[in-house]
Amino acid sequence: MRIADQTLATVADTAPFPAHAGYELSIIIPTLNERENLRALSQRLECALRGIAWQAIIVDDDSGDGTASAAKALAVLDARFSCLRRIGRRGLAGAVIEGVMASAAPFIAVLDADLQHDESLLSVMLESVRNGQADVAVASRFVRREDSAVGLSPLRRLGSLAANGLARRILGQSLSDPMSGFFVTRRSVFDETASRLSPQGFKILFDLLATRRGQLSVREFPYAFRPRVAGSSKLDHRVTAEFLGLALAKTTRDLLSPRAAVFLAVGASGLVVHLAVLRLLLGLTGNLDLGLHFPAAQTLAGLTAMTSNFLINNSLTYRDRRLRGLDLAKGYVRFCVFCGLGLVANVAVATMMTEHGATWWMAGVGGAVIGAAWNYLTTSIAVW
Ligand code: GDD
Ligand code: MN
Repeated sequence: MRIADQTLATVADTAPFPAHAGYELSIIIPTLNERENLRALSQRLECALRGIAWQAIIVDDDSGDGTASAAKALAVLDARFSCLRRIGRRGLAGAVIEGVMASAAPFIAVLDADLQHDESLLSVMLESVRNGQADVAVASRFVRREDSAVGLSPLRRLGSLAANGLARRILGQSLSDPMSGFFVTRRSVFDETASRLSPQGFKILFDLLATRRGQLSVREFPYAFRPRVAGSSKLDHRVTAEFLGLALAKTTRDLLSPRAAVFLAVGASGLVVHLAVLRLLLGLTGNLDLGLHFPAAQTLAGLTAMTSNFLINNSLTYRDRRLRGLDLAKGYVRFCVFCGLGLVANVAVATMMTEHGATWWMAGVGGAVIGAAWNYLTTSIAVW
């Protein structure tokens, strides 16, 4: 037993990696409706990675187009391919994390299935990590200005540049494409960080670098992001919201989870809705001077804000657990009950604080923080 353990440890530590001892590189390929792209992808990997002991782990979120069966058909023909079919789950980042967790290779590559990433860079990227030039080799769309124009719509390019700017500030690292979904690193980098990574959203590289706070050295490899041929992009406004949540979470040094951050931002939007409805109702009755109609208007405004908060949270904050039909109605009632209790807690705490000598704004903020924390914690358990 002890000898076997020792042998295993020795194999794992041996460098350079011994021939025929298993895979040196695991390529993790997240997929959602990419059946049409798999065959071409396998041919391209074959050409790009001659001489390297590689495997491809396709992590499919139960695509409706049969991507998982196509991937498994590929695996029957070529043992280097395998497929993990995840049921009832969504999220590129989570798929990548689980794929890595299934790998035993010393090096990991993350690559899209849709042929937009230039797989011919993989071998040089691997080489740079293997020989210690960098902890992470990132294929970057924005190093060469002319490259960035290809494959992205003008709106996407603008959004991408803005998100990149924000990401760079948080990372404190000069990196031209911190949102890249195409990179190579040692598996140990993932292993040490996996429990702190967020499974939601697209930004697995950003999360990895932000969680390790500048400890990871990065080398960038410019390439031209190719236009998509088959299938369609899954990046939408919700993915953008998830990124903003992750950015906020990292700004608070993980005091807030990405989900809590989005929940709070939605709460703030509720305040805007509340004031807008209040203004409208008071304006309609021609009574802007807080007369008789105020309590009714304030109540209606509060209910509207609560409803909009619930619906936005359901489609954004909890998009992976979205409620539908009867569950949506039940969830709405629960949400109102718990947020109502949150309001009671808010007022109670604020009142108690004023009794202990807090100024009006300290008490106001204190009550709001407790109320928001209550709303988030209880609804995350009872509603979604
Ligand atoms: N398993 C799984 N689950 N895979 C997913 C999911 C998901 O929820 N969402 C997307 N994918 C897969 C797609 O099938 C594709 O292989 C890859 O992840 C990238 O998704 P796309 O929908 O093609 O993303 P994109 O091309 O619009 O976005 C590009 O830019 C982003 C940064 O702006 C990609 O390079 C991303 O990786 C990158 O983060
Ligand atoms: Mn794509």
